[in-house]
Formats: sequence, C-alpha cells, structure tokens
Amino acid sequence: MGGGRHGLRAAATGAARALLHPLRLGAVPDPAAARRLYRLQAPTYEWLTAAAAPWRERAADALRLAPGETVVDVGCGSGLNLPHLERRVGPGGRVIGVDLSPHMLAHARRRVGHAGWENVLLLEASAEEAAFPDGADAVLICAAHDVMRSPRALTNVLARLRPGGRVVAAGCKWTPWWTPLGGPLNVAMWMANRPFITTFEGFGAPWSHLGALLPELSVEVVAGGCGYIASGAVPGPPPRRRSGQRRGGPTVKL
Ligand SMILES: C[S@@+](CC[C@H](N)C(=O)[O-])C[C@H]1O[C@@H](n2cnc3c(N)ncnc32)[C@H](O)[C@@H]1O
Repeated sequence: MGGGRHGLRAAATGAARALLHPLRLGAVPDPAAARRLYRLQAPTYEWLTAAAAPWRERAADALRLAPGETVVDVGCGSGLNLPHLERRVGPGGRVIGVDLSPHMLAHARRRVGHAGWENVLLLEASAEEAAFPDGADAVLICAAHDVMRSPRALTNVLARLRPGGRVVAAGCKWTPWWTPLGGPLNVAMWMANRPFITTFEGFGAPWSHLGALLPELSVEVVAGGCGYIASGAVPGPPPRRRSGQRRGGPTVKL
C-alpha cells in the first residue's frame, strides 16, 4: 500500500469503487471481473475481513492436515490462510496458493517473504486453468464464492488431488429468509459479501456444485446460518468415511 495520507486516500477510493462495481446477480462468476475487482480491493482486503479470522482456524482444522502433506489454497488472496496451513504441514510439507489476482498475490508474497517460508509456492492463475502439480493431499477453498460457483474450476482442482485427497470449503451463505432474523442477517450478508464476489448465484447453498462432484460431502452450517464449512474427499484409497456421513449428496448439519 502507498504511504501516508495519499496511500490511505487511494485505498479508500479503491474500496469505494469496489463496493460500486457492477454486480451480475444471477449470472455465472466472471474471472476477468474478479481480477479487476481485486485490483481495487487488495489494499483494504485484510482490514475489511478481519472478523473472519476465527473461521480460518476452523477451516484449517477441518482439513485434518498432517506434517509433510501438500495442501493447495485455491483463491488464496492475500494469504491470510497460509499461516494456518503452513503450521500444520510443517517444513517437510508444502503449501501451494493459487489466485488470479496479481494484486492480492503481491500481499501473499510479502507475507511468505516475511515469514521466510521456503515451502510455500504461489501461482497466479485462475482456478479454472491452474496447473499446479498433481497429487496434492488436500485443498482449501476459503471465502471464494466465485470459485465455488464455477464447475470448471472445481473440476480442474479436484482432478489434481491424489486419490482420497481431502477438500474443505468455507464461506458465507444466505440464512433462511423465513427465520425471525433472516431478513436483517441476509442484508448484512449482502453488504459484507457484495464487494468481494462477482455473482450471488448459488449463495443459498454455495457447496452444491462441490456436492455434485464429491460422492460424500458433509456440510456444517455455522454462524447462525450465515456460514458453512463443507468437508469431503475425492474417491479412492484410503477410505476416509467419517461417522455421521452418508452416501448420495451433501449431508447438512445445522
Ligand atoms: C474473498 S477473497 C478470499 C481470499 C482468501 N481465500 C481468504 O480467505 O482471505 C477471494 C479470492 O478469490 C480469488 N478468485 C476469485 N475467482 C477466482 C478464480 N476463478 N480463480 C482463482 N482465484 C479466484 C480472488 O482473486 C480473491 O483473491
């Protein structure tokens, strides 16, 4: 970020323009629009999303990472999840961050440099086309609704996991409108997410495309119905069946 008053003014202008970016409600995600959006958002992203910090730890826990494993953070942004992932895989493991925004990745690169991690690789690519090495043990998709609503992105990413590789997706969602606080909570969700996504398509069940691709997906609804953590695995050994899961589509835990 630029220094002093000029830098602050530029950041505020960028955030305001991001808030006003043309929203394509009901459309598919638009990677080119996301790239433009995050050029504006990058300077203020971490201030505006500080409230999500506890959920990052929970999402990383759900990945059940072991030392030495390789984990891919899809839509890694400025790298806020990287410390949670790197700590779990340790120096013998590897973290690969993928994002289409060079401006967000610039922050992630600074974070990696300051921490001195040599086992973190950052790739500038869309999830639809990213060609990270095959055989990763786990994938995290955190607060990346555009990725969750792109079957092409999900198919590409899952194809690169090893058999039995785990997937965790976490983010915001609509809470049921008919509940007493549904209206106000959803207005708050709209305002909180509006600056960061190019479509609200599928915001009621953001995991639905993932559920169609994974034979078992467990969905935990959190934050009073406004958030979710979805966990699953691609088919193949070792079997990673957990209690409470069933075959045939997502299991939603409220
Ligand atoms: C709300 S940020 C989340 C960043 C990070 N995962 C976090 O938890 O803070 C969404 C990120 O997804 C990235 N993104 C959006 N669409 C993408 C796509 N199709 N492929 C790769 N990255 C994408 C954006 O550039 C942005 O950095």
